[in-house]
Formats: sequence, C-alpha cells, structure tokens
Amino acid sequence: MSGNNKIHEVVKWPDPVLAKPGEKVTVFDAKLKKLVDEMFDSMYAAQGIGLAAPQIAISKRITVIDVSFKKNPEERIALINPEIIAREGKQVEEEGCLSLPEIREKVSRAAKVKVKAQNVSGEWFEVEGEELLARAMQHEIDHLDGVLFIDRLSRLKRDLVIRKIKKLIKNGEW
Ligand code: NI
Repeated sequence: MSGNNKIHEVVKWPDPVLAKPGEKVTVFDAKLKKLVDEMFDSMYAAQGIGLAAPQIAISKRITVIDVSFKKNPEERIALINPEIIAREGKQVEEEGCLSLPEIREKVSRAAKVKVKAQNVSGEWFEVEGEELLARAMQHEIDHLDGVLFIDRLSRLKRDLVIRKIKKLIKNGEW
C-alpha cells in the first residue's frame, strides 16, 4: 500500500446510504483499483476486518475483507459484485460493525459459504469460506443489499439496540 491513500470516514447508522442497495460495478478501471486500495486502508484505519462501499457513502457493490487483519496477504480479498452461490450449516456468533460502534450481538449465519465475485480487473472468481470468513462475507454482502446485522436480530432485540443507539445519539456519544 502506498501510504498516501485517502482514508474515508465510515458512516454510522442511521445514515440512509446504509439502507440502500449498492449499484452494480460495470467499469473496471484504475479509479476502481484506487478506490479498493483506499477501502483497505480505511478498513485498517478503523480497525475492521471488513468494509463495504456503502459504509463510506459510496453506493456500489464493492467490499473488502481481511480476517487476518494484515497478518496474511493471501487473506486480503476484494469482492466486486459478489453473490453467495452456496451455503451450508449454521453458526451463531457475536458480530459487530464499523457502522454500529460498540454494538455486539449474536447473529445466526451459514457456517460455510461459496461466493462468486469479480476482481478489480473484472475477472470472475470463486471463494469459499467457513467460520469467520464465511461470517464476514455474509455480513459484507448484506451491506451491499442495504442490510445491517441488527436487521437480522429478533424484532425485540433490534428495538432494544435501536433504543440504546438513540440514547447515545441524544447524549452526543454516537
Ligand atoms: Ni458492517
């Protein structure tokens, strides 16, 4: 990484861009490569292991993931126009989100997924993941559909979380 990439600010709930499905990427140029690099740097700067473009107010189907958090370059994945093509099993683990700081709740997800996506050059590839990678891919692809992890909680749990956030907003702590 060049070190002089722009660091984008992560938008928080209830910014409407987070609820809007992202647009499909159709142009695979130098500008897209630069944006993906900026997304990795912005994700690391925010101490995250996944970031979706709508979280930096860019409503496009792009997400970056690194569940190793810089430890293993092979785990640095950029998914453009991703689709989950297979799911298997179930896992229930605590999840967080850079757009919902401090909020952590248990979310049910598939244990394993297979994802089809394009790389920054527009070539299609497949990636299989289990455990944390499977969770991260499902969480990030949800962002591209305008879905946050709190939308996957029970109505009661979601209402409690939203009440907590509204209180934080009121106290200027959000
Ligand atoms: Ni998130």
